[in-house]
Amino acid sequence: MNHRFSDIFRAHRGKVSDKWSSYLPVYDELFSPFRMSPIRLLEIGVQNGGSLEVYSKFFPNHEKIVGCDIHPLCARLDYINPRIQVVVGDCNADATRDRIFAASDSFDLIIDDGSHRSDDIIRSFLTYFPALTGGGAFVVEDLSTSYWRAFDGGLFHTRSSMSFFKLLIDVIHAEHWGVEVPAHELITRDFPHYGALAACVGLQSIASIAFHNSMCVIRKCETPDQQSLGARIIRGTDPTVVDVRHWDGTGPIRSDERGNPNSRF
Ligand SMILES: C[S@@+](CC[C@H](N)C(=O)[O-])C[C@H]1O[C@@H](n2cnc3c(N)ncnc32)[C@H](O)[C@@H]1O
Repeated sequence: MNHRFSDIFRAHRGKVSDKWSSYLPVYDELFSPFRMSPIRLLEIGVQNGGSLEVYSKFFPNHEKIVGCDIHPLCARLDYINPRIQVVVGDCNADATRDRIFAASDSFDLIIDDGSHRSDDIIRSFLTYFPALTGGGAFVVEDLSTSYWRAFDGGLFHTRSSMSFFKLLIDVIHAEHWGVEVPAHELITRDFPHYGALAACVGLQSIASIAFHNSMCVIRKCETPDQQSLGARIIRGTDPTVVDVRHWDGTGPIRSDERGNPNSRF
């Protein structure tokens, strides 16, 4: 009996799915804690629809698996399993978004394997991350395209999807900036056209961001607004060099950086 996602994927027959081999161990680790949960999963870009079948096999207690694809032939994808649903349309169009949310108003796992164009990737992250449940993960596949001109990218392109996700590294450290600026302003500084979306996305609930080759995994905090270094924990009774025990239980160090020219917005 296979329990690893990679084994189930490699053994899959039926509708076709297309994933890079280096993604599979990432999914093994990411998906395993969710395996027996009644998960709700959204995949943007399903093409031949095989990935939805693989997810349904790997998560036997799934509540809902929703796929979205702009290709009209995806309307022909049919599944005996009524818990798999395909929404045909542009994931970033209001009408499509409404149909996705009608299928499920929240998701534990969201995978963007859609157009791979920077604008679409950023827009779908800002649109669907708010619908991610606490402890859930948002995965973006094929970020290799962010380096390619044909996908509006380039190594030093400041508005590429990769540049956007790199900014989220600073966002999860917002409490250490030492300047009184809301986290979303870091995004709107380089990406002004996402202003309203960026302000509403709930950036303070991003727990972590991890990069793999061409893949980014953004995890949400278990509870809203939980993002913080937390309290200092000091244990042990023998401080031979420096006695730091009085710091036990204290919060993050605050540094006022408002006068720092390298921290100016
Ligand atoms: C790489 S394929 C998906 C492969 C699939 N996830 C799999 O595992 O086999 C990308 C798909 O994204 C779809 N797509 C492109 N732009 C889209 C958009 N704006 N909204 C939804 N789907 C989109 C394409 O039609 C295409 O079928």
